[in-house]
Amino acid sequence: MMKRKLKNILVTGGAGFIGSNFIHYIFKNTSFCGKIINIDKLTYAGNLENLNEINRRYSGKGYFFERADICDFNEIKRIFQKYDIDTIVNFAAESHVDRSIFGPRDFVLTNIIGTFTLLEVARENWKDREDVIFHHISTDEVYGSIEDGAYFYEDTAYKPNSPYSASKASSDHLVRAYHKTYGLPLTVSNCSNNYGPYQFPEKLIPLMLLNIFEEKTLPVYGDGKNVRDWLYVEDHCRAIWEILNKGKEGETYNIGGENEWENIELVNFLCEKIGQLQGKDKDYYKKLITFVKDRPGHDRRYAINCDKIKRELRWRQIFDFEEGLDMTIRWYMNHQDWVDRVRSGEYRKWLEKNYKAR
Ligand code: NAD
Ligand code: TYD
Repeated sequence: MMKRKLKNILVTGGAGFIGSNFIHYIFKNTSFCGKIINIDKLTYAGNLENLNEINRRYSGKGYFFERADICDFNEIKRIFQKYDIDTIVNFAAESHVDRSIFGPRDFVLTNIIGTFTLLEVARENWKDREDVIFHHISTDEVYGSIEDGAYFYEDTAYKPNSPYSASKASSDHLVRAYHKTYGLPLTVSNCSNNYGPYQFPEKLIPLMLLNIFEEKTLPVYGDGKNVRDWLYVEDHCRAIWEILNKGKEGETYNIGGENEWENIELVNFLCEKIGQLQGKDKDYYKKLITFVKDRPGHDRRYAINCDKIKRELRWRQIFDFEEGLDMTIRWYMNHQDWVDRVRSGEYRKWLEKNYKAR
């Protein structure tokens, strides 16, 4: 299997949940010695604190940050040329389904126009270079909802149901077209639901954890029987690293946890685990569970088949769910200050003072 020589990696959305975990992963777990250039608009979901340690140790010596919007062609072009980018990993996105229902505009702008802008800058600057790669991060949600017993494969037809998944599907199509039409060296990965440290507490697992800690209501949508497949974020990061290094140009790789849970089962499990940790009765926190009005267009089940990446790139999930959850629970327990700042808007004020957009 041929290994790419990656030198200057542009990570978009590196201050978000998966992007920041990915940057940590590279510095902690690989022997990469080129440059990582993190560009992020720092929306409500982007938090530079996630990278404090990296910034302190490597800023200017392998790690670089630029505040930028991926929709801004001139700015992206400037950064592209300044750092002589040969690798792109595109995480930047609006990522929460509920927000996309209330306001789809930013999803269309960032997820579609932003990806288009990156593709254009890459096409213009890379021309016919072959020693480059553009990796686009996508989701299993583009495949839509699937019945029990069936699975999403890399060639399953796209059937997105939310403005979020429709915007991601749209960007995936553009990426595919840039490979077919212009021969841009590209790979795509579609991953299931991630969990782990630094996840913004609007997503199911961190939201439930924090509400349990604070003994607040646990809002379960509909009948709670929607199914999601959960993967520990570091397993996702390792999969991306494998694809960047060894993935075949023009290919899509599905990534998943092979770990399906009904939401209600999962919330019950979280209640039990935290109850246990705190020496409480195993059912103590379950009284907080409240079934609330369902999310419109709520996909019933996602389930991914990830045999291809296992077979072709020898990737495996390393963290089992209990272990990953234990690490995640402890992380949120030990980072109350992070939670408070992310939630209170205090961090936003600091940001506006210190990081004026260009
Ligand atoms: P996130 O919301 O935590 O982070 C997104 C980051 O992108 C933030 O730092 C934000 O500031 C930045 N951003 C938003 N708009 C931008 C713009 N216009 N220009 C530059 N930066 C911008 O999201 P996440 O959960 O880390 O997801 C990262 C990627 O992975 C997304 O593409 C998402 O679709 C995909 N994905 C996520 C999951 C999951 O479970 N979280 C699963 C599969 C795929
Ligand atoms: P979420 O974390 O928003 O991820 P996605 O919608 O991208 O899968 O939600 C995961 C599942 O949990 C989904 O079926 C919706 C459900 N959910 C709740 O029941 N209550 C909540 O408060 C949230 C945020 C999600």
